Amino acid sequence: MKIAVLAGDGIGPEVTREAVKVLKAAVGPAAKLELIEAAIGQAGVDAAGDPLPQETLQIARDADAILFGSAGVPGDEVIPFMMRPGASLLRLRKDLQLFANFRPAFLFPELADASTLKREVVEGLDILILRELTGDLYFGEPRGFRTNAAGEREAFNTMLYSEPEIERIARVAFEAARKRNRKVCSVDKANVLEVMQLWREVVTRVGKDYPDVELSHMFVDAAVMVLMKAPKSFDVIVTGNVFGDILSDGAAMLTGSIGMLPTASLGVGKKGLYEPVHGSAPDIAGKNIANPLAAILSAEMLLRYSFDDAKSADKINTAVRKVLADGYRTGDIAEAGCKTVSTSQMGDAVAAAI
Ligand code: IPM
Ligand code: MG
Repeated sequence: MKIAVLAGDGIGPEVTREAVKVLKAAVGPAAKLELIEAAIGQAGVDAAGDPLPQETLQIARDADAILFGSAGVPGDEVIPFMMRPGASLLRLRKDLQLFANFRPAFLFPELADASTLKREVVEGLDILILRELTGDLYFGEPRGFRTNAAGEREAFNTMLYSEPEIERIARVAFEAARKRNRKVCSVDKANVLEVMQLWREVVTRVGKDYPDVELSHMFVDAAVMVLMKAPKSFDVIVTGNVFGDILSDGAAMLTGSIGMLPTASLGVGKKGLYEPVHGSAPDIAGKNIANPLAAILSAEMLLRYSFDDAKSADKINTAVRKVLADGYRTGDIAEAGCKTVSTSQMGDAVAAAI
């Protein structure tokens, strides 16, 4: 198992350290685990003058899977795109063609009161947001700044999807639904945007190949309402890059904390990039208080998706449940009567439970 470990910036190194600890415990000492650390984000700029150094890119290309922490520094948005620490992740996703981003929003029963929503709304929640990850406004050309005829500064991006791009993500959605509750809700904005009109048309066409899966369509604004009001009515949500980015942060709050959500980004093969949904959280970086469970659950997804090792993956999941049931909580999910622990203590507790 050749795994590139790209811890990155902010809380990335702290939470990734715990994910590696748990990963090692889950696969056991006999497993052939090759972990290759490489610099990314601001760490890449410091080490090699590039947020995605050539050496890191090569290590990621050669690996079977990538465990990613986070990339980004405050004020990042004023730096030119290619040199921006946070954009290293986007460049990596694009280079490796990881177009299918699985963002499960799953509520551990112990955390039903950690959500800001009422218990009955979120209890038993288990949905999957499938976000297209290599197209849309994020990558569409042309993009940039210009000055118009009146001498005013303008900026523009292009929201663009090709039919094959929509088709391949739609297929992933229907296949995923077949392993779950056989429902796909495609989220778009077809009432306003041509690109989303095409999205709806193609998803509908692909849906005909999956008569056993129920397909519905929803505009993104309405989808946000339903996500807050009746999130359990969804099974698989398939959507574009921008809407998926926004919806998945919203869905994170249903589960109590963004510190709980892992994600897997896959392409056509088994190779994947696994990362917590949360970002670099510079305000709490270096304090050993961040929740490492999203990173730890990302390691679980890595074993499941890239190495077909359900046995070790289940060990991680069971251990996380045990630790939560035993009352261990990091600050973001703390509640009265719990044992509030640090980042490393949480990692130790999960590893010990394995
Ligand atoms: C995410 C993040 C990234 C994104 C940022 C860090 C570029 O918000 O993975 O959801 O927008 O895709
Ligand atoms: Mg996001």
